Amino acid sequence: MNTIVFATGNKHKIRELEVIFSGLVRINTLMEIGLEADFEETGTTFLENSIQKAIYYSKKTSFPVVADDSGLEIDALNGDPGIYSARYFSPRMSYGERCRQILEKMAKVERSVRSARFRCAASCAFNGEVIGTGEGRVTGMIAFDAAGRGGFGYDPIFYYPPFKKTFSEMTMEEKNQISHRKAAFEALVEQMLPWLQAQ
Ligand code: IMP
Repeated sequence: MNTIVFATGNKHKIRELEVIFSGLVRINTLMEIGLEADFEETGTTFLENSIQKAIYYSKKTSFPVVADDSGLEIDALNGDPGIYSARYFSPRMSYGERCRQILEKMAKVERSVRSARFRCAASCAFNGEVIGTGEGRVTGMIAFDAAGRGGFGYDPIFYYPPFKKTFSEMTMEEKNQISHRKAAFEALVEQMLPWLQAQ
């Protein structure tokens, strides 16, 4: 089985990816191959950031490198936090506090205009060359209260009407059926397959 490196330090994302890629490729983390997570995002889109990140680390290892960039877009906040999701309000603020602050900002926003989406772009690079990219999104709404204990980041306040649950209330299997990350990585794997098979 091929090994790819997933350029993230986020253990929740790694678990999600292991499920998505199971049986297809072996996933190693940056830490497992002795690389430091020192890439700084300067792009203006999710796709640009994921491409730059994959290229950056692929020049430091002989394995193909997969990188993603993702975030939450809230329509009532003009698309914020968007590409700044990991640093919204303050980079040191806990996600519990960030979710509370968003709920506060949205306190007077009616149900009909609470739409939001998670977006993800995923890219793979090998020796500094892009092998494939993929993008995914999932649309839902910002809940009125945080709910659930699972997941990470903004999961407790992202309500997905078809399942009548927030992402935090879902099992990983449920989230992986419909998530932005799953859609982005599926599109990426489809583009990568010919390359993977040729290895
Ligand atoms: P990055 O993709 O590592 O730059 O992080 C983007 C940020 O978006 C994460 O730290 C989370 O705050 C948020 N985010 C991205 N995907 C998810 C998700 O599936 N659930 C909850 N929050 C997410």
